[in-house]
Amino acid sequence: MFYFGADYYPEQWPESRWELDTRLMQAAHFNVVRLGEFAWSLLEPREGSFDFAWLDRAIALLHRHGISVVLGTPTATPPAWLITRYPEILPAREDGRRWTFGHRRHYCVSNSTYHQYTQRIVEALARHYCNHQAVIGWQIDNEFGTYCYCPTCQRAFQAWLNKRYSSLEALNQAWGTRFWSQVYTAWEQIPLPWSTSLVPNPSLALDYCRFMSEAFVKYQALQVGILRDLAPDQWITHNFMSFGYDRLNYHHLARDLDFASWDNYPLLGDADPSGLALGHSFIRGLHPRPFWVMEAQAGPCGWETLSRNPLPGQLRLWSHQALAHGAAGLLYFRWRTALAGTEQLWHGLLDHHGQPGRRYQEVAQTGSEFARLAAHLKGTLRAPIALILNYEDRFAFRIQPQTTGLSYDGVFRRLFAALHRHNLPCDVLGPDDSLAGLALVILPMAQILEPAQAARLEAYVREGGSLVVTFRSGIRTSDGQMVDQPLPGVLAGLCGLEVEEYEALPAARSIEWDGQCWQAEGWAELLRPEAAETVARYSGGPWAGQPAITRCQLGRGRVTYVGAFLEAGAWASLLNQEAAHRGVQAPLPAPGLEVRRTGDSGSVLYLLNHTAQPRPAPLPGSYQDLLHDTKVQGIELPPWGVAVLGE
Ligand code: GAL
Ligand code: ZN
Repeated sequence: MFYFGADYYPEQWPESRWELDTRLMQAAHFNVVRLGEFAWSLLEPREGSFDFAWLDRAIALLHRHGISVVLGTPTATPPAWLITRYPEILPAREDGRRWTFGHRRHYCVSNSTYHQYTQRIVEALARHYCNHQAVIGWQIDNEFGTYCYCPTCQRAFQAWLNKRYSSLEALNQAWGTRFWSQVYTAWEQIPLPWSTSLVPNPSLALDYCRFMSEAFVKYQALQVGILRDLAPDQWITHNFMSFGYDRLNYHHLARDLDFASWDNYPLLGDADPSGLALGHSFIRGLHPRPFWVMEAQAGPCGWETLSRNPLPGQLRLWSHQALAHGAAGLLYFRWRTALAGTEQLWHGLLDHHGQPGRRYQEVAQTGSEFARLAAHLKGTLRAPIALILNYEDRFAFRIQPQTTGLSYDGVFRRLFAALHRHNLPCDVLGPDDSLAGLALVILPMAQILEPAQAARLEAYVREGGSLVVTFRSGIRTSDGQMVDQPLPGVLAGLCGLEVEEYEALPAARSIEWDGQCWQAEGWAELLRPEAAETVARYSGGPWAGQPAITRCQLGRGRVTYVGAFLEAGAWASLLNQEAAHRGVQAPLPAPGLEVRRTGDSGSVLYLLNHTAQPRPAPLPGSYQDLLHDTKVQGIELPPWGVAVLGE
């Protein structure tokens, strides 16, 4: 069953309107809404006194119209009475100052009083709704985030360090505290990486990121535990932010869930098709079960200023794209645009006036198409290519970007876009995921690598895998210290080379590869191949004529090391070549379209036109057009058009 609907806030509208809302939803083929995730001050108006009656009535009405409910736990918005009584629940900013009440996410994740109140509201909700037929699952909190720098967090951090290192000697050693006289002689001396300390010790900062991330994992686990106990028949998810959010380890957070969900606002980013595809591929890789889009852009959005308005066809296109990438549920944020509050400019499907308009009609059409496709789209294929995403590396790059010309995300996006350009199917996997069966693995800027990880990569290559490693890999230990070996550190043997010199590039540098001249920017390394052979050389600058890309055969596989941040076209050619070498191809040669093979057995082809121009799609044979129920041989996609073909 495919779930389709919206995020609905009945509590923000007169009850007399609910019936009409529900009928409009049903007419748009909605079968699910998310409710309640910011409603704490209405669900528990006074300490310990709960009022679920209004929510009961809303759920009953929806249920009568065949609409199921995902309940959000309201913990992203602790109510005013709670904050007034315990102001220490408010988080502190990087300079140590507390937030004030009036926004959301205003809680310190380490605060034990907050944990007690969380437990109480979640238990009350779970007890009340665990057997409700309409309630199919739970969303915990909303978009976890907010690093806290308060005294409670400082004490919790010290305790966490004590557990991690056991002794101060070990901590001092790991952090290299002889530098600048930072040797600690008591746990209580250890600071947080406050902005007032200017540039903190990178090892301390890295551990703080890990600690904050684990604090959210623990906080989520508190809620998961309650729900598993009291509501064992309902599933649990969390709505993650998009790929660009790098402060919490989403791989760790996703482990405790039944599946991952995410919030997709294309027009807040660049709405570039490969960026959108990356968002889906990234979330798909967080959990083995199919993901949901818990919030999909529904109109122009923004808190203070507006994004563009989605063009006719775009909401439908982006919704189909989610299906093409394996989504099992999709809800628009939000049903109707709020008249009041911070998000009164964040447009829902209905405008402020509540009349169904152009965007509603488009979504209703999409709903009828999804209903038709549901039977064909069970499950997605695992891609033969993987990009490895590691939050520890992201933390480390945020702490020390190393150069202004480079960012972890920028490199990651460019590599993903290179594959996407040729419609090469790619999953984004975590550093601990299995590599078995993958044709090609790409390891971008893997700063922190332990010998065990290097051994896993080596085994993958020896057994016949192809690995692409980029510059800035193997440079640190997990303590955050620089390695004391030639780079790429623990990968040097596997890559068959040493990095002789490296440079943050202030200007582009040219590289000769495959008979063409390409530019590199941001970063370049001078390679000294040992077991590897040279594939490309610098053709300008101080290293002209010297190796920039190398390749090394190992066992039945091979490793390519790319020493510079190449321009997009070069990555596209290089990765396409590597994929071809392993026999991986696009599902269909259709330049300019996004093409994905999906469905359990891969028997469904999705064609998406992310442009304002019509685009022909040459088909190698005859296909069943699943949206129109006709046979087609060739097809032209209208602007922002979609085709779904069965073989
Ligand atoms: C998301 C959030 C929603 C809503 C939306 C628009 O990040 O999960 O609750 O606030 O943004 O701001
Ligand atoms: Zn705190």
